[in-house]
Amino acid sequence: MAKLTKLDDIVSLCKRRGFIYQSSEIYGGLASCYDYGPLGAELKRNVRDAWWKAVVQMRDDIVGLDCSILMHPMVWKASGHADKFADLVTVCKKCNTRTRIDHLADKSDGDAAEHTEHVNIETEAAKEHDLSNKVCPACQAVGKFGEPMAFKLMFETQMGANADDQMTLWLRPETAQGIFANFRNVLDSTRVKVPFGIAQIGKSFRNEVTTKAFIFRTREFEQAELEFFCAPGTDEDWYEHWKQQRFNWYLDLGIQKENLRFRDHDPDELAHYAKACVDVEYKFPFGSGDWQELEGVANRTDYDLRQHQRGMRTMNDWFESKGDLSKITLKEEAEDYHKGPLSFFDEQNKERFIPYVIEPSAGVDRSTLAFLVDAYDEEEVKGATRSVLRFHPHLAPIKAAIFPLVKKDGMPEIATKLYDDLKGNFACFYDQKGAVGRRYRRQDEAGTPYCLTIDGQTKEDNTVTVRERDSMEQSRINIDQIKAYLREKLDL
Ligand code: GAP
Repeated sequence: MAKLTKLDDIVSLCKRRGFIYQSSEIYGGLASCYDYGPLGAELKRNVRDAWWKAVVQMRDDIVGLDCSILMHPMVWKASGHADKFADLVTVCKKCNTRTRIDHLADKSDGDAAEHTEHVNIETEAAKEHDLSNKVCPACQAVGKFGEPMAFKLMFETQMGANADDQMTLWLRPETAQGIFANFRNVLDSTRVKVPFGIAQIGKSFRNEVTTKAFIFRTREFEQAELEFFCAPGTDEDWYEHWKQQRFNWYLDLGIQKENLRFRDHDPDELAHYAKACVDVEYKFPFGSGDWQELEGVANRTDYDLRQHQRGMRTMNDWFESKGDLSKITLKEEAEDYHKGPLSFFDEQNKERFIPYVIEPSAGVDRSTLAFLVDAYDEEEVKGATRSVLRFHPHLAPIKAAIFPLVKKDGMPEIATKLYDDLKGNFACFYDQKGAVGRRYRRQDEAGTPYCLTIDGQTKEDNTVTVRERDSMEQSRINIDQIKAYLREKLDL
């Protein structure tokens, strides 16, 4: 129970301190949609930046991309999402609530297996489903379910102002397809050579049947995805490489090791495109077993590029014969393999192939929640409870808060000057209201690593009090040394 309280504490801290609000709250809220407030926007931006730095900036084999959310409908037909991106659901005959079959709890143990994000609809639909002992999560009725059916997860929207050029489009359910669709463009416009990767951060949308636990599973969310293209036969080594890289990314940003683990997907759980997949799981303070997916690392083989080559045949003159996707012959497909526009010619080995893809796919919102949960701490200090977010300095929304001890004796002037001097280098915050102890506590709740206080001694010896968030220790540093001090301590 203590852990559940912890998530509630975080939700309330997020609202109180301006990290995360319910969307459209003034109109009663919109379920499963959230807005990031001033501190939350900074935190989430830092999560994105940390990902981009590790995955793009620090690697010379990866380039970035920023694709549009709306894409040609053929993208989703070719990728398989139009037909296969669905959950198997059932409707409760008593209360009409629709629930995912894999999220139904047994009457006997009351625990639903919620670790899977989306089941493979083909293998799932082929299975026998005995729902006689399952409980409806909405009305608790047992075994009162209709026939399982597929529920499509992509949102539809209309494009075009005139009736005759209107087109139904899908909002992208993953950012990955924009990368595959631009594979040729990137090859032709940059100097990359296989093995290399293309990375993207952006919004994705899924009409999730079950939303859950604050920003953990929402219908609009942000993904940070890398598609790493490699030669067939090298894919298993790259898969291992990316597994480790991604696991270490969370550890390097301060996630406690005991809260992180790998979980391999069972063969019948694999997405329609994957040969292997492992989840990086975090021990979230909710749900049936606590361990929940944070990120997936999948071996997508050459599935997507092959599918898009098939898709392109139906649409343009790249190929000798245009044709209906379903009518492409094996011979034509074999030709594509050897000269198709999404194949790659390896100059060194003089061979052409369609690259295999290793995909680490992270959720920016879900990582942000994990960083919040992991950083949150409460401790007793002088008979009162101190709530503190022990963020890694790179993630902390504010790096340093600057206070004059009192609003007189020239202290605000010195503090404002220091603030102006630092704000070009670090995200800083100036506060001169209230008792200094209260100001420290507010910054603890914001996760600010350092508070700098200008006091009576500053005028005498040019030093300021530097108060450290985690230890609450105070030291005196010369005001001229503060920038260098913060740079070293924050590793910025
Ligand atoms: N391109 C592969 C892909 O999209 P996924 O496992 O469906 O794989 C990857 O999603 C990550 O995106 C998940 O591990 C999770 O962090 C995040 N994610 C997926 N659905 C989400 C949702 N409804 N709300 C928040 N984050 C989500």
